[in-house]
Amino acid sequence: MYHHFSVFKNESKLDLNYIPTRLPHRKFQRTLLNQFFRFTVENPGEMTQRVLITGNVGTGKTVLSQHFGLDITKEAEKKEINLNYIHVNCRECRGSLFMILQRALLNFHPHFPKRGYSAEEILQILIQILDEQNAYLILAIDELETLIQIGGSDTLYKLTRVQEARLKAPQRLSLICILREPRYLNKLDSSTRSTLQRNIIRLDEYSTSQLQDILKDRVDLAFKHETVSTSTLHFIAELASSENGDARYGIELLWRAGKYADASELSEVSPECVRKAVASVYPLVQKDVVFSLSSHEKLFLLSLARCFKHSKAAYLSMGEAEQAYAVVCEEYNEKKRGHTQLWKYIKELSALGIIKTELSSFGQRGKTTYISLPRVPALDLEQELAKILSTENRRSNTHAD
Ligand SMILES: Nc1ncnc2c1ncn2[C@@H]1O[C@H](COP(=O)(O)OP(=O)(O)O)[C@@H](O)[C@H]1O
Ligand SMILES: [Mg+2]
Repeated sequence: MYHHFSVFKNESKLDLNYIPTRLPHRKFQRTLLNQFFRFTVENPGEMTQRVLITGNVGTGKTVLSQHFGLDITKEAEKKEINLNYIHVNCRECRGSLFMILQRALLNFHPHFPKRGYSAEEILQILIQILDEQNAYLILAIDELETLIQIGGSDTLYKLTRVQEARLKAPQRLSLICILREPRYLNKLDSSTRSTLQRNIIRLDEYSTSQLQDILKDRVDLAFKHETVSTSTLHFIAELASSENGDARYGIELLWRAGKYADASELSEVSPECVRKAVASVYPLVQKDVVFSLSSHEKLFLLSLARCFKHSKAAYLSMGEAEQAYAVVCEEYNEKKRGHTQLWKYIKELSALGIIKTELSSFGQRGKTTYISLPRVPALDLEQELAKILSTENRRSNTHAD
């Protein structure tokens, strides 16, 4: 069978569950997490810890915690300490403390009966097993919102109480709580809240250049050499940055764009592939928005669409745009509008979210305004505009008759 060239060399590195060895721009937070849990490999049993990780979607909360979990358990193993890291997602457990604890328990006791116990009982059994096996557990409770919302405010309290009730015995259970919105903390009892607030790791949204570093690592791992250009990479990073610095969105775009490149049998991921990827995640720019543009705005947008359709670059300079617009005006027998007017169109079109502009010194070129088409595949836009413009033309011709 004939196999076309693929831009990928290892797609699994773009899997959202993949834990990379490097976490660019999270070094400080990663070290902090280690420091909070130093005791687990130095003098386990002496104390427990509760840490809170907060940050918006795609700021790396989950991956940070898992990365830590992998490392710390490896270190413990070398020291022959039976330390376990278990990561449970409250949303997947439908906000039920019972299910969360059951998952933790199944890790130690795969055949534990699934029914017949309350959450409190399972918690007791879990601690008992930890005692029996002289084991320690760091339980990471991800998407804690769901637990607080559904399980109620005292569920976490139960988890923390279980340690406090056995002061003389070794401390075995530590918690990492992962939460998007710190305001959910207000729903907790004051003692749980204040412990969590003491050990808080806040993850800020990634900037474009930070996202570019993160994505660059994934490009090197997942794609063949020279299939993703720096310009395309920057384009994706910028798109993810405008989606609140969401690294997940960036990785998803990268993967989808690669898929589109393969589907179109390209040897490189083009900006058009990225736009198709964006359009497949979100709806296209709405047709009625395009329809309501003035006729010269349409002509201008048509010229941009034509440039982007063939261009390997994700960005177009103002000069290139003006030239293309002149060509389109000639074709449609229209007198072209001046420079100032074009600036107004650009402002209008970016306000509508159809194009994006950036004052940039990107690449080797000097500082000018660059235009990109972030959301809609150029080919779709061109066809749509050509259709609308030809109907308008026909109409005005009939009027003239
Ligand atoms: N600093 C980073 N370095 C490498 N990959 C990262 C980094 N931050 C996030 N990611 C990746 O981005 C995606 C989203 O991260 P995730 O931890 O799921 O975010 P959150 O849990 O905050 O929503 C994951 O695929 C993750 O591996
Ligand atoms: Mg997460």
